[in-house]
Amino acid sequence: MGKAVNINKRSREGFGKEDEMQEFKPVKEGKVREVYDNGDSLIIVATDRISAFDHILKNKITKKGAILTQMSKFWFDYTKDIVPNHMISVDVKDMPEFFRQERFEGNSMMCRKLEMLPIECIVRGYITGSGWASYQENGTVCGIKLPEGLVESDKLPEPIYTPSTKAEIGLHDENISFEESVKVLEKIYPGKGADYAAQIKDKTIALYKKCAEYALSKGIIIADTKFEFGLDENGNVVLGDEMLTPDSSRFWPLEGYEAGKGQPSFDKQFVRDWLKANPDNDLLLPEEVVEKTVAKYKEAFELLTGKPFQA
Ligand SMILES: Nc1ncnc2c1ncn2[C@@H]1O[C@H](COP(=O)(O)OP(=O)(O)O)[C@@H](O)[C@H]1O
Ligand SMILES: [Mg+2]
Repeated sequence: MGKAVNINKRSREGFGKEDEMQEFKPVKEGKVREVYDNGDSLIIVATDRISAFDHILKNKITKKGAILTQMSKFWFDYTKDIVPNHMISVDVKDMPEFFRQERFEGNSMMCRKLEMLPIECIVRGYITGSGWASYQENGTVCGIKLPEGLVESDKLPEPIYTPSTKAEIGLHDENISFEESVKVLEKIYPGKGADYAAQIKDKTIALYKKCAEYALSKGIIIADTKFEFGLDENGNVVLGDEMLTPDSSRFWPLEGYEAGKGQPSFDKQFVRDWLKANPDNDLLLPEEVVEKTVAKYKEAFELLTGKPFQA
């Protein structure tokens, strides 16, 4: 009831400030996302900012935030039989009044607040990036011995779990072995480290397998991705953060995939190409590159969900 009254008020009075409306300030502003604290829940807002080569660019990619939030929603729904997740709603009508304004519509997800486990759960189905670098050095990735003779971007015989610890701000995350992930968790949760470490590993691989197979059937290779898990108030392991977006994963177009070289990024291909070709760019993309990139995000959404993106 209270909600309905507030909505009516808002439509009468526009989006103006109201005496009783609670203002929110982000408790955390990442490179691309903002997190708001709403008591038992969080509101995670994906902005239209874009990063490339570890820099935030000056352009906004129109609707990127909404596309990525809706993509996460799709995957959370698609995998809720494998593992419970933190999503409560992506409808601003379910959120405090402050969020019922245009800049939060579609790009905000209300989530159960979890106690996050300090492990980045990375799973790789293909060898690229830091995994490829490590393999070239010593034939292993995070302590896992891989077959000989792999070439860059090769598909792995089986997806591998390569956790890392969240580094302090400014440092790069550190790859660790599964055994080290047990130790990290055991330190915080005595007697439970092995159980939590095994659960997040098994869930990570199961999620990746189901979703990567699906994406492949739609023309997108998910080369690798990262999940984050947390504990709910009963100590259950719950999937949090964003899920299988191009910001947390490497998406490659299936068309033109060829092992033995680096693959173009599904979404950031035009951005990276242009930045490389224009080294004195000042992090400002031409409008044409922005438009092509917007189109790539929409294309990824439409391929994966089978629905056109509704702005
Ligand atoms: N359900 C949740 N409960 C509590 N924290 C969460 C939840 N989901 C995600 N987080 C945390 O919210 C933060 C999102 O911030 P993000 O923009 O990804 O920046 P960064 O990854 O640099 O910390 C991360 O620290 C993530 O672990
Ligand atoms: Mg993050």
